[in-house]
Amino acid sequence: MNAKSVSMQNIKVLPDTSTLYRAAAEEFIRCARKSVADHGRFCVALSGGSTPRGVYSLLAERPGDLPWSNIFVFFGDERHVPPDHPDSNYRMAQEALLSKVPISAANVFRIRAELDAKQAAQLYEGQLRSFFGLKPGELPRFDLILLGLGDDGHTASLFPGSAALNETSRLVVANRVEKFQQYRITLTFPVINHAAEIMFLVSGAGKEEILKEVLSKGEKYPAQCVRPENGALLWFVDQDAARLL
Ligand code: 6PG
Repeated sequence: MNAKSVSMQNIKVLPDTSTLYRAAAEEFIRCARKSVADHGRFCVALSGGSTPRGVYSLLAERPGDLPWSNIFVFFGDERHVPPDHPDSNYRMAQEALLSKVPISAANVFRIRAELDAKQAAQLYEGQLRSFFGLKPGELPRFDLILLGLGDDGHTASLFPGSAALNETSRLVVANRVEKFQQYRITLTFPVINHAAEIMFLVSGAGKEEILKEVLSKGEKYPAQCVRPENGALLWFVDQDAARLL
């Protein structure tokens, strides 16, 4: 690696996908326990995508390892579909993890993506404001936000060229993604960059080019704009995705 915007110690390269799932699950558990010990609760925003699913399945196998009554689950983004739709991030998290562990439904905050996208975004922003007790102008501080990396450099539902990239005041927006001719609902950069910890999960040979690009200096890709102001940024990548680093 030459001049990179991310220092090497924040990039964990794991030999294969199952080792990546295990390492990321361990970090999730460590962060949850530390957050609960420090301030009594763990607020996490989950990601969609195939790599997180593997991590959620591992966490589901170890329900006793997490303090579920003190865990509050949110979503970093959602597809504009009802919660029982195969594309729903909520459905994926529910099937892989939430239905298998002793978490109360009251601790899970899903994006109401069965509604009009703008209304769903406004409602979610309202839920965040009320849960975190925010005054105008304040941002929520998630203990952990999980993110994936799309092969076009998107993260959460912050796609290249989309309007949400420029959002500076809203916490959640409906973001029109032209290539899908659809809205997505997503947390904005101010919220993401205010988190205490961000974990990118990236696996597979299809990600090698974009991972190299995103870890270079610049702001060409949305994922390059993830830079926590006062938090940790960790990358968990498998050897296939890391091949060009
Ligand atoms: C989603 C995501 C999205 C995802 C990336 C990477 O709703 O799909 O939140 O940002 O993380 O597209 O997905 P994979 O891990 O499946 O490659």
